[in-house]
This record gives sequence, structure tokens and C-alpha cells, in this order.
Amino acid sequence: MKIAELPTPAIVVDGRRLESNLAKMARALPGGRLRPHVKAHKSTAIAKRQQDHGHELFCAATIREIEGMARAGLGADLLLANEVLDATRLGEVVRGGARVTVAVDSRETIDAARRGGVGEVLIDVNVGLPRCGCRPDDAGELAEEARRVGLNVRGVMGYEGHVVGNADRADRERGCAVSMERLLAAHADVGGELISAGGTGTYDCNLWATEIQAGSYALMDTAYAKLGMPFEQAFFLLSSVISVSEKFAVADAGLKSLGMDHGNPDIPGARVLFCSDEHVTFAPGRAEGDDLPSPIDWVSPATIRVGDRVRLVPAHVDPTMAYHERIYVVDDDRVVDQWEIDLRGW
Ligand SMILES: Cc1ncc(COP(=O)(O)O)c(C=O)c1O
Repeated sequence: MKIAELPTPAIVVDGRRLESNLAKMARALPGGRLRPHVKAHKSTAIAKRQQDHGHELFCAATIREIEGMARAGLGADLLLANEVLDATRLGEVVRGGARVTVAVDSRETIDAARRGGVGEVLIDVNVGLPRCGCRPDDAGELAEEARRVGLNVRGVMGYEGHVVGNADRADRERGCAVSMERLLAAHADVGGELISAGGTGTYDCNLWATEIQAGSYALMDTAYAKLGMPFEQAFFLLSSVISVSEKFAVADAGLKSLGMDHGNPDIPGARVLFCSDEHVTFAPGRAEGDDLPSPIDWVSPATIRVGDRVRLVPAHVDPTMAYHERIYVVDDDRVVDQWEIDLRGW
């Protein structure tokens, strides 16, 4: 099948770029130095390719992701890097033979792990991102409580999510160092073999974590592209032009097929004016200062027609993937494979 025959909107992944991103990361953080986060791509097909590059440990954000990974035979060492109040389904995954560790940051989440039958935990520490995680000073006490109720405390985790997107590398390094100082202080009280942290934005400047939880590097997005990372944009949202008027054109992808929390998608060679539920309205033609990746992708105002295909580059990969059922893998203009985005849902 040719790309031109795909129903739109469609998630399209450039197989060669994906492989190149996976290989680059595996060289930088081989084996257990990386615990790939599956929340970005939500696909066991991509996780299997990460495993082919030597990574056996995986990280997830939802119970469904953990279940799907175990079912796909990728359950050697799964971390749910998130708090849950009902760990019953995780306990079932453990009884099925997978190794599951869950993040805890309170007596309630420790109790949920125990009741659900998950025997292993990481103490989640707030290292500056206003989200989950206990105060560094409370980590030791929580670890004691977890051990008292019979859980194996494998160490700490602390995601420096407020830092990973900083465009300035020196800023990122400084912010990461401050966060990891907090995490190491907590680890001194908690003990255990794991210090789990980091993301794509800090994969090469977080020098303290024993394992890095990066996910976006596999597919990338325009938010991470601004950081000048060595990873290439490997996925895009294929869309069809459904209406053209004098000053703008409209394609069939909008808020219901794009994660928009990091802003509008890019259309190489065009200016995106706005997105609505099922539409993106754009002005074909170069904007001042546009840095265009490849002339082939440019949208020409003189020649744009109803039925043309445009490639949107999403600003945030994770929520974009969550809107779609499958990935079309392409090589130039040929569709060479289809993978389910099978870790969606809760
Ligand atoms: C707990 C946790 N770790 C790591 C990451 C890093 O992911 P990425 O590589 O996409 O920045 C995230 C992303 O949201 C996360 O929530």
C-alpha cells in the first residue's frame, strides 16, 4: 500500500528513523541503564524493538500498560512509575509470572500495594515537579513502613519533569543536579539498588540515576525537537486537505486526533492558524524564519488542492498516540507494516 491510500487522520512512523533513534539511545544508555517508558508510544510492537536493542526493564504510567506489556512477554521487570489505590490487577500480573514494582508515596499507596499482592515498591520522591512523590525527608519513614508490612523496597524514583523540557542545556543540567541532590538524599535514607529518574530531555545530563525513564526519544515531537537532541522526528499525523479557500486550507485532523497541551502541530511549509475538533486550518507558504526540514514536505500555496496529503508534526507525542488505534510504518511512500497501539486505555 502507498501512503496516499491510507485513511486519514493516520499515525505514520518512519521505520528507519525509529530504528535510528532506538539505536542512538541504546548506544548512549545500554541495557539496564535505560528503562524505556512505554507511555509515549503505547505500543508493544515498539517496546519489542526497544528490547531488541538490549533493554529488558520497562516503565509504565497505567495499569493497562503493565498488563499489556506482561501479556506481550515483556514482563521481566516492569515499573509502574505512578501511584495507584487499587493494585488488584497488578497483583494478578505478578501471579501470572511477571515482575512488577509500583511507586508509592503514602501509607495509603503502600497499603494498596500490599493488599493487591504487589510485593515490590519504589519510594516516589518529589524532586521539584508539583505532581506525585513524598517530601525527601519523609522517604526513609515510608520505606520503613513498606518493609514493616512485608514489601521489598527496591530504592527510589524521582521524575524531574519540570526540568526535562528546558530549552537551555545549562539550565537543564543545573535543574537536574538540584533535583537529583534531593533524590540522593532520600535514597541515603531508603536504600535499595535502584535510583530511577530522568526523561528524554535529561537522558545525557542525569548522571546520578542508576536508570533513565525516557520514552519520547523513540518518536519525538516538536517540543523536544526545540532542545536540539540527536533524535529525529520519527512519526507524524497524516491528514487530508478537505477544503481550500483563497487564504487558507483545512485538513481533517484536529483536537480529537492530536495532543495539544504543548501547542499547535507544525506543518512544514505552512503556518498553522488554529485547530478545532476535527480540523486544522493552515495558511500554505513559508513563514518568516521557518526552518524547513525537507523541500519535499513543503506545502505550496500555489498548488494546494482538495485531496492533497499534509504531514502534521505533533507538539506532544504521548497524548497524540493515545487518540489512535494503529501505527502505519512507512518506508518513503510505501506502507510496510501496521502495529496496534495496544496499551491504550486504563
Ligand atoms: C514518571 C515519568 N518518568 C519519565 C518520563 C519521561 O518521559 P519522556 O522521555 O517522554 O520525557 C515521564 C513523562 O511524562 C514520566 O511521567
